[in-house]
Amino acid sequence: MITPDISKFANVTKVTTHVLQEMKLKNEKIAMLTAYDYSMARLLDKAGIDVILVGDSASNVMAGHTSTLPITLNEMIYHASSVVRAVKRALVITDLPFGTYQGNSKEALSSSIRIMKESGSDAVKMEGGREILESVDRILSAGIPVMGHLGLTPQSIHKFGTYVVRATEENEARKLVEDAHLLENAGCFGIVLEKIPAKLAAQVAKEIRIPIIGIGAGPDVDGQVLVLHDMLGITQEFSPRFLRRYHNLSEEIQGSVKSYIRDVKTVDFPNEREQY
Ligand code: KIV
Repeated sequence: MITPDISKFANVTKVTTHVLQEMKLKNEKIAMLTAYDYSMARLLDKAGIDVILVGDSASNVMAGHTSTLPITLNEMIYHASSVVRAVKRALVITDLPFGTYQGNSKEALSSSIRIMKESGSDAVKMEGGREILESVDRILSAGIPVMGHLGLTPQSIHKFGTYVVRATEENEARKLVEDAHLLENAGCFGIVLEKIPAKLAAQVAKEIRIPIIGIGAGPDVDGQVLVLHDMLGITQEFSPRFLRRYHNLSEEIQGSVKSYIRDVKTVDFPNEREQY
């Protein structure tokens, strides 16, 4: 396993929610990325990622939808079970998709049970604050760990109408801090904060005892998450300020495919050593 030697937790054989809590206490940042399939999840896990999120961003990057709303529970379970089969060390968290938990807490519990039972995920994530507390409580009472998600919540995009930075106004910032406290008190093991001012995220991470994972929320939180296809440069259309691209895979993949096409057309491939 190529685990970064900068990690005091590199030798942990399985990352659990308790390990994440310890990482916060020991001031070690948590590295989280999304994955939706077996092959990518295997690479991430071997590289030593702490947490893999089977995000409903699969709706965009895997299925080509323009929002996270269309992805179904069955589709999320398919992605999550592929990821779980690949992973030995990382904690695997799966998003509850839109429409599978907002109705009532019974529905939220039965969706969570399906994710845990049919995919083998370690935990679920859901968007919202006060409005999802009853569901969080019910899911937790069944022994399922829950991560919250505040700030920019893509499942509510039609309510807000825009992906601009959230909680810049005092009222919204106050509500976000209140919601974070409510989620912590309800028993969530962590919270994702998406696209909010760095100063506000730092305040939340300081006030709240559970790990706070940021995406576009500045450096003073307990960990970071990015969408894998964005940070590898497979997707090119999406370029928010918070995104650091570590690769330009879209160019590399297209370059390789062009070379293959050329080799096939010119009968350079297969050569003598590539045949029986
Ligand atoms: O679905 C997703 O990928 C997410 C991350 C952006 C946090 O929720």
